[in-house]
Formats: sequence, structure tokens, C-alpha cells
Amino acid sequence: MSGTPRPGSGHVQIAPSILAADFAALGRDIAATERGGADLIHVDVMDGHFVPNITIGPPVVRAIKKVATKPLDVHLMIEEPDRYIEAFVEAGASMVSVHVEAVPHLHRTIHLIKKLGARAGAVLNPSTPAVTLEDIARDLDYVLVMSVNPGFSGQAFIPHSVDKVQHVRAVLTAAGSSAPIEIDGGIDETTAARVVAAGATILVAGQAIFGNGDPESATRALRAAALGAATSSRA
Ligand code: DX5
Ligand code: ZN
Repeated sequence: MSGTPRPGSGHVQIAPSILAADFAALGRDIAATERGGADLIHVDVMDGHFVPNITIGPPVVRAIKKVATKPLDVHLMIEEPDRYIEAFVEAGASMVSVHVEAVPHLHRTIHLIKKLGARAGAVLNPSTPAVTLEDIARDLDYVLVMSVNPGFSGQAFIPHSVDKVQHVRAVLTAAGSSAPIEIDGGIDETTAARVVAAGATILVAGQAIFGNGDPESATRALRAAALGAATSSRA
């Protein structure tokens, strides 16, 4: 099947970020990425407080859920996420991630997400060190490493993020966890290869997928670039 990783090439998932899609044609744009082999649909939720932008809430997630065939990966860039997690899961989120910088009781929040039946992720801003996750690592279903400061699509990849992925992998391994690492921000065909070689397996991309008017081909091209890296890093 096209889009399925070859054995031995590593398991890489492509998660188009609809923040860069045409909001008046979300169904069309999501379908195009799914034809191109998207594995997840990444939904960026922003509240104008935790980040300087406002995007979408549960009603839009519910609408997307009706048309998407792939799981919805909801990235909460909001203060007090505990107040809204249930609404997002009810609306159709399969994965919910929260910023460690936004929650005082991360263990409680992660277990709330799990109790509601979704996969739970913790997100690190570029300035938040990987060691912050030491005492929660074994509870996480995935870690999301931000490779830009969250808030907008189309920002430049922060090069230190490659090392950050390796540091997060080391923290997870030390805790006995093989949870996947997702990366978000400035991912394109060039940076994808570098972060996959470092150990990221879920690649979020906005501009690289929706920026050139052909999200189907762009999704395919991003996977090809990522799998090339996965193959050569194991050669
Ligand atoms: C940024 C968001 C990202 C963003 C990625 O705050 O979390 O998901 O849409 O967009 P690109 O790939 O264009 O950097
Ligand atoms: Zn995101």
C-alpha cells in the first residue's frame, strides 16, 4: 500500500497541521492529505493567552471528525487545559497533548486524558529542557517536541531541536519507555530527514504540506524524505 513504511525503514507518521490549510475548505484539504498518505490530522488549538494567536475549538474538531478518516491529533496551546480536555475528546480527539509550561499538575492532566480514552502527550517548548519529563516519562503515550515557538505556521526550524529529540529519547529510554517522539514546527523535506535520523517518528507539517497548493503530493514527498532518512540512519 502506498504510504506504508517499508520493513526495516522505521515507522514514520505524517501529521499535516491544518493550521496552514484553507479554513474555508478544511474537508477538501484534509481529504487531499489523506490521499497522499497522511497518518494523523494535527489540530492546533490556541487561546490567545498561552500563545499569541487564536484558532479553533471543539465545534470545529467535531466537524472535522465527520470527514477525516485518520485519527485527530489535538495539540492544546491553551492555559488551564484541564477545563477543555473532555470537550475535545468528546468532539473526536484521539490524541491530546498539553504543554508542560501550561499545567501545574502534569501527572493529573495526563491521566485525565487517558481516563477519557485518548492517547496523552506532553509538549516541550524550545526553551524547556528534556529532563523536565524525567518523572512523568513512563506515563506518557508520546512526547511532542516544539521546533519553533508555538503560535504560528511558517516559522523557521530551530536547529537545536535535533539535539532536543535525542535528549528526549534518552530521558524516555532511561524511564523504560519507548513512546514515540513527535516534532512540530518548520518541518520540511530537509529538516524531516534530520529529525527522523535523531529519533522523531511523528512529523507535523503545516507550510510544507499546504503551502504549495498540492497537499496530496506534498504529503507524499515529506514521507519519502523522512523514510530516506530512516533507511540511511539504519544502513
Ligand atoms: C505552531 C503549531 C504547528 C504549526 C506548524 O504553533 O503547533 O503545528 O502549524 O506549522 P509549520 O509546519 O508551518 O511550521
Ligand atoms: Zn502543533
